[in-house]
Amino acid sequence: MDRKGVFPLQAFSSIETPFYYYDTTVLRDTLEVLTQQAKAARIEVHYALKANANRRILSIIRGYGLGADCVSGGEVKAAIEAGFPASKIVFAGVGKADWEINLALDYGIFCFNVESIPELMVIEELAAAKGKTANIALRVNPNVEADTHHYITTGKEENKFGIALGDLDAVIDAVERCPHIKLIGLHVHIGSQIMEMNNFAGLCNRINEVQDKLDKRRVVLEHVNLGGGLGIDYHHPNRQPIPEFETYLKTLRKMIKLRPGQTLHVEPGRSVVGQCGTLITKVLYIKEGVKRNFAIVDAGFTELIRPALYQAYHKIENISSEAAVEKYDVVGPICESSDVFGKDVPLNQTKRGDLLAIRSAGAYGEVMASQYNQRALPKAIFSEDIH
Ligand code: LLP
Repeated sequence: MDRKGVFPLQAFSSIETPFYYYDTTVLRDTLEVLTQQAKAARIEVHYALKANANRRILSIIRGYGLGADCVSGGEVKAAIEAGFPASKIVFAGVGKADWEINLALDYGIFCFNVESIPELMVIEELAAAKGKTANIALRVNPNVEADTHHYITTGKEENKFGIALGDLDAVIDAVERCPHIKLIGLHVHIGSQIMEMNNFAGLCNRINEVQDKLDKRRVVLEHVNLGGGLGIDYHHPNRQPIPEFETYLKTLRKMIKLRPGQTLHVEPGRSVVGQCGTLITKVLYIKEGVKRNFAIVDAGFTELIRPALYQAYHKIENISSEAAVEKYDVVGPICESSDVFGKDVPLNQTKRGDLLAIRSAGAYGEVMASQYNQRALPKAIFSEDIH
């Protein structure tokens, strides 16, 4: 399918740029496949709000019965407001503030994913003050490889995340001294944009070893949460708009050795929302440089920071032109040299006023926008509102 042809160009011409365009059909199709495959593999899914917390996107996702994975009090609130049941909310993060812990205790969320002994002590103290018991999972740092950008790997010893495997015994000793804590699960997350199923298989093997150790201590857990991380095809958003959920979920289910009664959970973010979002931006100027042509557009890293921050690739298309292809450096208006969406990008011959589509921007796009240079936050337009 050639989606370039399906962008509603006429409607776009009256919308002020830059804006995020969300194709809700792509989102719903993705959710349909995800929920079917998760059911088949008997895996519970918590959508990772950090990828996209646009309220309408959240309410569509909630409609498919998913739980929520939150990393801040703001995300917990957003999940509750969007109608996610508290009983399906997990709360992770290395630096939970007291007010955030209190908020989550008040809502009675499913589980805190705990990352250190000092955090455990604070949760115990705050839960005791409320006369409540907090359900927790221990987030361990499995020290396994993830083939992805080093900024978005999380499961190596040198990362700040999780409890080192060598410290696990001490943490369990500490849990046993906390009357307001109930240990119900084990949690891991090794990184994001992972395409290699071997990485997930390696993770499962490591968790199996951890569970063997826990058995020896007679620690019985209700669930294992393997985090998120499934990647999407940034190079071919049309060829494969729906990620390989089946292979991913089947791999996890096959490799992990669950104990009787244990449930298996995952927390996908990017794979749920990545392909439904496109950043639409207008060409302001074509500037002929010494060695290259610049297409200067009205979006910058304030709208989509991934290329500047992680050297991430996003496919860019000129949706206003069918003329012969030329190469351009597509750059934004921000006063920083890193404000570049792509170099030597092949585009149909481009002129002032053309609209460019920066694809696969549904995850970690709008949600990471900033107001640097006193710019306005980007608006969101939904395909289902365009007739
Ligand atoms: N669970 C935990 C504990 C996480 O830290 C993350 C992502 C997820 C789940 C969801 O991972 P996903 O399925 O989306 O890969 N801003 C970066 C990505 C940061 C990911 C942070 N953690 C980017 O634009 O590539």
